[in-house]
Amino acid sequence: MTTSNTTANGDDQAQSVALTINGLAVNAHEGMSLVEAAWHGGVPQVTSVGCLEGVCGSCRIMLRRGKEVTVGLACQTFVENGVEVVFLPPASAPLHHYEVSDFKDGWDIQARFQDIFPEASRCRHCHGCDNACPKGITVENGVALAAAGRFREAGEAFFECVMCELCDAACPELIAPAHVGLFSRRVTAHFHLRPPNLIHRLEELRKERMENPPKDRRKKNNED
Ligand code: SF4
Ligand code: SF4
Ligand code: FES
Repeated sequence: MTTSNTTANGDDQAQSVALTINGLAVNAHEGMSLVEAAWHGGVPQVTSVGCLEGVCGSCRIMLRRGKEVTVGLACQTFVENGVEVVFLPPASAPLHHYEVSDFKDGWDIQARFQDIFPEASRCRHCHGCDNACPKGITVENGVALAAAGRFREAGEAFFECVMCELCDAACPELIAPAHVGLFSRRVTAHFHLRPPNLIHRLEELRKERMENPPKDRRKKNNED
């Protein structure tokens, strides 16, 4: 359903965009995000909004353009004529429970993962999670890496994840890819599997410091 602005100003009318948000007809202006359009149009019950910068993952939306249905983040999506937008409720509580502090060492971490996320090995490679991700993450590959026990690489694959959980909603196997990514990042940090480039740079700095001690230390050494 579309509407049109009726104003005395022809320029304003040319830039108006008619769409629906949560079933209500809204007249917005070109260049507005869908969050701004919702506020501008006085759409009630839009509470799932946080950062407005695409990092909190809370402004989850479903969009319909004709027969095409997609998902996204409302603060990162601009208004379009005729698009139907529905703000989605916050993601429900995760179904996979664990305490990272219970993991004493990394030897059985793959077995632990299979116990916690038994669905991960049943990925049907439907690409639903990849298509849903507003951050362009290769979610399906991240799940495959985690299922293969390659948690550091899986964690890196999910580096830009904002935990909007749109991939979880898209997954027909209830794998919860967002939480697979979170698990991977958590265990990587827990077992101190630091990124190799960071380890390498720290070692370079340590050597530099040994070869060129700070002046005050050199002075103190001379006095001793
Ligand atoms: S990986 Fe999933 S939770 Fe993370 S940003 Fe993409 S869709 Fe959202
Ligand atoms: S949506 Fe689920 S089943 Fe489909 S590719 Fe992604 S993880 Fe696999
Ligand atoms: S409001 Fe935070 S991602 Fe949109």
